[in-house]
Amino acid sequence: MNARRRHEPGPEVESFYHLRGCDLSGRACQGTACFVARHSSGEAQPCDDPRVYCLGRCFESPATGLSGARPRIEVYSRAPVVLARLVQGGARSLEDYWRDGGYHSLETARAAAPSAVLDEVEKSGLRGRGGAGFPTARKWRTAAAQASVPKYVVANADEGDSGAFSDRILMEDDPHALIEGMAIAAHAIGAARGWIYLRQEYPAARLSLEHALAEVREAGLVGRGFDIEICVGQGGYICGEESALLLSIEGRRPEVMARPPYLTEHGIFGQPTVANNVETFAAVPWIIEHGGDAYQALGFSKSRGTKLVSLNSLFARPGLYEVEFGIPVRRIVEEIGGGLRESVLKGVIIGGPLAGIIPPGLLDTQFGFEELAAIGASAGHGGMIAFDERTSIVDLVRHVFSFGAYESCGKCTPCRLGTRRIEEIFTKADDGEWREIVSALKWTSLCGHGIGLAAFAESVMRYYGEEVASCFV
Ligand SMILES: Cc1cc2nc3c(=O)[nH]c(=O)nc-3n(C[C@H](O)[C@H](O)[C@H](O)COP(=O)(O)O)c2cc1C
Ligand code: SF4
Repeated sequence: MNARRRHEPGPEVESFYHLRGCDLSGRACQGTACFVARHSSGEAQPCDDPRVYCLGRCFESPATGLSGARPRIEVYSRAPVVLARLVQGGARSLEDYWRDGGYHSLETARAAAPSAVLDEVEKSGLRGRGGAGFPTARKWRTAAAQASVPKYVVANADEGDSGAFSDRILMEDDPHALIEGMAIAAHAIGAARGWIYLRQEYPAARLSLEHALAEVREAGLVGRGFDIEICVGQGGYICGEESALLLSIEGRRPEVMARPPYLTEHGIFGQPTVANNVETFAAVPWIIEHGGDAYQALGFSKSRGTKLVSLNSLFARPGLYEVEFGIPVRRIVEEIGGGLRESVLKGVIIGGPLAGIIPPGLLDTQFGFEELAAIGASAGHGGMIAFDERTSIVDLVRHVFSFGAYESCGKCTPCRLGTRRIEEIFTKADDGEWREIVSALKWTSLCGHGIGLAAFAESVMRYYGEEVASCFV
């Protein structure tokens, strides 16, 4: 078989996915933002199977099915970067994008040597917006330095972290920014082909991207020398993890792989591959247009530029906001989000459920990769789920570990079995040895799924220990 051809998925592949052939139109979202919204209003939690963990509508939770409602969109940065067009209503057609100077950055990049593009991205200090905050230029340089061809570029549009809907809105309302960012990356590393790995839960984003790709092919902006294909996921949170994602694109069972080798050396079909998040790519045209120094001037410390934050429905002002790194979390919660609609804040989960909770006493922490990590939290994908005093921590732990168990790829024992055991302990309140399982998750998990669940559990022990202890007496 030609190594570069997609595998024909067999039953061991098909059985992995939760949402194959599933109609999402009437399904209730079971993601964490919807969980806390139902909890606060006293509404029963759905127990549908297969489960849908996030429909990307956390600003209007609890959500059922798909809707065209748009979140409030505002910018709290000295310069709007990724939301610049969205605050003006978006650019869904090539004509609109062109009118606003679209694809000028690609023209500039293609007229320059790939090394000059890499230098500009390096100067900007851009770090990946998908969760880990890895320096983008370093990743691109490694792929560019590989002798093996062809090379590939992948946009991670899986946006599985419950609470985040930023990538969805970017793709629906400004699809060309992603395509332009990918094409610039392709020029910088010498890639011939790209994929957008898009979650099935985002059908409107798919339509928007398909339309945009048809437009740029017709205009000759992609298609010759570099083309992009959309690969639609079939339900599987772990497919957002980049090594699982590439197996999914290849048509193989998407289990996380140990590294090295890294994707930049040995990625899709064994070829050098750059995988970046949608927001990361969407920032690139701005960097090329305004220069790396202008981007570097925004933000603070080791977190430069801006970040999209998605605020859930419990805020008085839920929506999608662009903030500069360095802003105190308190300002996002109290000023931008307007505090909670009702009741009293009990905690904020930033970056999805696989990260530590921020209790009210730590709201003065500045929003930055290292600063949030220092308190056991994470910038993650920028989804911010506030929950109030009506949410029981024990129920929240059960919900998060139920999600963790359901979405585990199954490779590591503490993640495959331990997560189920913790869910069971918190369901029966039987005070089992959950702390040992958390420790095993922390130290032996192969990927951020198990490690993130451990971080979440540790924050629960640290900040809400008394409430948990009272449930076990
Ligand atoms: C369990 C798990 C799920 C992930 N899900 C996503 C996702 O949905 N979207 C995303 O961009 N990155 C996700 N990531 C991070 C990717 O593995 C990878 O770091 C990212 O796509 C790299 O792009 P960036 O450097 O632009 O952030 C996930 C990681 C883990 C461990
Ligand atoms: S930690 Fe969980 S999701 Fe990650 S590789 Fe291990 S079993 Fe798979």
